[in-house]
Amino acid sequence: MLVRSTVFGLLVALNGSWVGTPHDGPDPIGSWRLSKQQVKDGKLQSLLGTSGRIEGKADFVADKLGGSMLFDGSSTAVVLADDFRMAKQKLPKKHMTATAWVAVSAKTRWGGLVGVIQDNADAESGWVLGYNDNHFTFALASTGADDGDGHMTYLAGTTRYKLGHFYHVCGTYDGKVQRIYVNGKLEAESAVQTGALLYPESAPLMIGGYRDSNENNPFHGRLHSVRIFDETAKPEAVQHMFTHGEALTKSKPHVVQDPDMRWLVQPYLQWATKTGMTIRWETSRLSSSIVNWGKKVTFVGEKDNKTPVFAEKKVVAGDSMLHEVRLDGLEEDTAYYYRVETVDDKGRRLWGDVLSFQTAPSEDAPFAFAVISDTQGNPKVSGAMANFAWGLRPNFLLHPGDLVSTGTVKSQWLSHFFSSMKPLLERVAMFPVLGNHERDAHFYYDYMSLPTPEYYYTFTYGNSQFFLIDSNREVGPGSEQFLFLERELKKSRAQWKIVCYHHPAYSSDENDYGNTWYGPSTRGDLRTRKLVPLFDRYGVDLVWNGHIHSYERTWPLREQHATAPGNGTVYMVTGGGGGGLETPGPIRPFFQNTVKRGHHFCYVAVNGTTLEMKAYDLEGRLFDTLTIQKK
Ligand SMILES: [Fe+2]
Ligand SMILES: [Fe+2]
Repeated sequence: MLVRSTVFGLLVALNGSWVGTPHDGPDPIGSWRLSKQQVKDGKLQSLLGTSGRIEGKADFVADKLGGSMLFDGSSTAVVLADDFRMAKQKLPKKHMTATAWVAVSAKTRWGGLVGVIQDNADAESGWVLGYNDNHFTFALASTGADDGDGHMTYLAGTTRYKLGHFYHVCGTYDGKVQRIYVNGKLEAESAVQTGALLYPESAPLMIGGYRDSNENNPFHGRLHSVRIFDETAKPEAVQHMFTHGEALTKSKPHVVQDPDMRWLVQPYLQWATKTGMTIRWETSRLSSSIVNWGKKVTFVGEKDNKTPVFAEKKVVAGDSMLHEVRLDGLEEDTAYYYRVETVDDKGRRLWGDVLSFQTAPSEDAPFAFAVISDTQGNPKVSGAMANFAWGLRPNFLLHPGDLVSTGTVKSQWLSHFFSSMKPLLERVAMFPVLGNHERDAHFYYDYMSLPTPEYYYTFTYGNSQFFLIDSNREVGPGSEQFLFLERELKKSRAQWKIVCYHHPAYSSDENDYGNTWYGPSTRGDLRTRKLVPLFDRYGVDLVWNGHIHSYERTWPLREQHATAPGNGTVYMVTGGGGGGLETPGPIRPFFQNTVKRGHHFCYVAVNGTTLEMKAYDLEGRLFDTLTIQKK
């Protein structure tokens, strides 16, 4: 079948109202401008199509193009029809486009902007333009897909939206390909769904909200305009729609703010390199992002009222709550001092402590790092570990995952993780991986400043290269992360190759891989064991894992056998950073060198061809050491 060619009529905003311009293509079949001027008798008057009933509290907030409707995340919704079949609103049958200018105020797993859906596990139908914790989404079900009677394809864009900022989101479908565009750019497409759209037997037709017969997830944020077409917008038309409203992206962010100005997360460091450092913090209100810094601090003023003064100051434009300031162009292996400053719209200013960091050294200089894993939900222990670790003055921290108990719960990041780890994280950068307890939640991505896609990355420090992956995702041969590891390990010329991921390929835990008190066990995660041939082939020296809340060090292993020191990979389980303790099983596996139940952390010092590892318990007592000496 030929795809119909489409030319879009343009609508432009003038003084908050929409007028059509001369065009030679079809109009939308529904168009809504969510402004105060469009509200009459509790109804949102449409520009085209059905007017909507406004439920709950509808406020209107200024933006760069005449204002938009603020949905409060609990009561506000625009219902075009309680049942779309009863609506006068015409809906697309096959070819379609749905667009919205939107600013999300609070993240959610299932967010809807416009659509008609019935989403049951076994029978999904309809379509919805929406968003999830991180990305915008466009979902639909069709009559022609192989799955027959209803499985929706949830297409997610790649842009990680920033809270409070406007985006143009557009979903298209032509009976063959489903696409999502963000700010005019195509971000994802899928050919899973084919044929006409599959509509539910009954469902509400909504603007701002994800609602069906058994779910109601209100939208929290601003909507400026929404449109539906029964044609498939071409990329140029989508780009055009974005360009016309682009001024909206310059609107002041509107987010839910605490009346009090306070720290949510005190300053912490990320992505340490030879020439740069990222300084992060979080405040309860939108405020400025300022870092005062320099190679030394001088103090001016009277004895009890001295003010620290720094030579440099970096100010990042725009207000935010999650602050990120990157200092670049620094000198390698050099000490720097910094102090964060952040001011809200009422002039309330928070000052951070006077802190320090040091840039990464050149290849020939020694360095050291700490490893603390599975800090999850035990700030007393993780705090003690952070203090012990800081006492050894490492250059950075490696965290093999399970930072918190439940990654989707913000309070755990604040009161469990960042507050307890503060003594270490405010002076050294942390290089983490995702554990299963992070649940791939947006908070992880929000708080970490790592190279895209953030769940895998590599960095070099001194003469060593580190390779970090997410073992919750697919890691077997052919997977994205396997290919990444293979490519990066192959080209690495580093003296030491160190890998880190959460789930251990080797463990003697009593019951995680089969109950070893009563029978056999796989003695480790079979999924991550598929990575072992890569480590053998490319000479990985050390692998850091967590997940098992215990300590275990293997012999050097090669081809699944214990081998001579320096001739294989040593696998470390170091999940003793806080989570409830686990116990080794009664049977000693071939790979085991040392095992110990108890909270602990590790410390690694690297000097040329010598690597020394030390493990310390909760009392700060040394209980295991390892030295690897290369020729
Ligand atoms: Fe854990
Ligand atoms: Fe875990």
